[in-house]
Amino acid sequence: MSGKPLLEVLAGNVLTNPPIWLMRQAGRYLPEYRDLRSEAGSFLDLCYNSEFAKAATLQPVQRFKLDAAILFSDILVIPHALGQELKFVEGEGPRLTAIRSIADLRLLSKDLNLQNLSAVYETIEKVVSELDHSVTLIGFAGAPWTVATYMIEGGPSKNFENIKHWAFSNPNDFEFLIHRLVEVTVEHLSRQIEAGAEVIQLFESWAGILPEKEFVRWCIKPVKTIVDRLKRKHPNVPIIGFPRGAGTMYSGYARRTLIDAVSVDYTIPPRWIAEELQKETVVQGNLDPHILQVGGNIMVDAVRNIKTSLSNGPFIFNLGHGVLPNTPPNHVSELIDLVHEH
Ligand code: CP3
Repeated sequence: MSGKPLLEVLAGNVLTNPPIWLMRQAGRYLPEYRDLRSEAGSFLDLCYNSEFAKAATLQPVQRFKLDAAILFSDILVIPHALGQELKFVEGEGPRLTAIRSIADLRLLSKDLNLQNLSAVYETIEKVVSELDHSVTLIGFAGAPWTVATYMIEGGPSKNFENIKHWAFSNPNDFEFLIHRLVEVTVEHLSRQIEAGAEVIQLFESWAGILPEKEFVRWCIKPVKTIVDRLKRKHPNVPIIGFPRGAGTMYSGYARRTLIDAVSVDYTIPPRWIAEELQKETVVQGNLDPHILQVGGNIMVDAVRNIKTSLSNGPFIFNLGHGVLPNTPPNHVSELIDLVHEH
């Protein structure tokens, strides 16, 4: 026994008290994060300073009884480390100089520039030495398709016109970009594991915008390659996949990618998760973060429904997407108490 509830469940064990952590558990809803953020200056200054990033990683586990800490960083440090310009605009989100062709892609480096990334691995080393023995450290990356959406659209997008046009009209060129992202993602995640990350989560935030055939080619296949390559080097590090919005294509996602656990968004009914997914994999999810933000009775009912439906198999409690910036921190403590009540 590892003494770490998250690792126990990822090994397939069923616990009477499910472990809990929350996507985006560090961030603007915490006053101590806002202080740290203004001390650091920009969001990227915070990510690329290992003392600040360590503090941000530890804040939620110091305040709440959570079973995991997740590295404080971002999925967009990968395009940044390939030389793509990146900034985070207050109130708007990330802005990148969009790449739209193979010619644009050739202007970027083939390999990761470690100048900023070394601080990310250093953060992991520092966090590991300060973490309570029962708490698991999660490293992460964006899955290639999701990272590519930001690289090609140049930021958040409503209809993903540019990436879909490129992927559908010239899949062979597009494959070249995805292949590059697979390579550097494997390297980035291997370095996180070597620094001390005990679990990896792959965020496929834009799994929900593709038809079946393209979902298989651009979401399933690259993730499977990443998993194969990581497992060869680090067979004992569990990998959680989060194909947000995948709908019925959640079925078979774990089997086809060989990930160890699937994180499920809040549109999927807990009973369906139990019947369709939990029989073949560990599941994680799936409270709507807006319900956490509202709190009270709606949260009590939703948490009980999720727990009742999923407690008979291996299950990690989480949200169906990240904590919203205007969430009252005391709702998080109340949520943890509810998850732990019998
Ligand atoms: O606590 C944690 O979960 C760890 C750190 C983490 C962040 N981003 C910090 C962050 C993780 C795991 C991510 C993942 C991430 N980043 C995803 C995948 C998950 C998802 O939300 O779908 C994506 C798509 C990104 C890209 C990104 N980063 C966007 C679109 C934005 C702007 C939106 C926003 O919430 O501001 C960010 C910024 C960001 N990443 C913040 C944090 C704490 C806010 C930065 C700030 O203003 O201080």
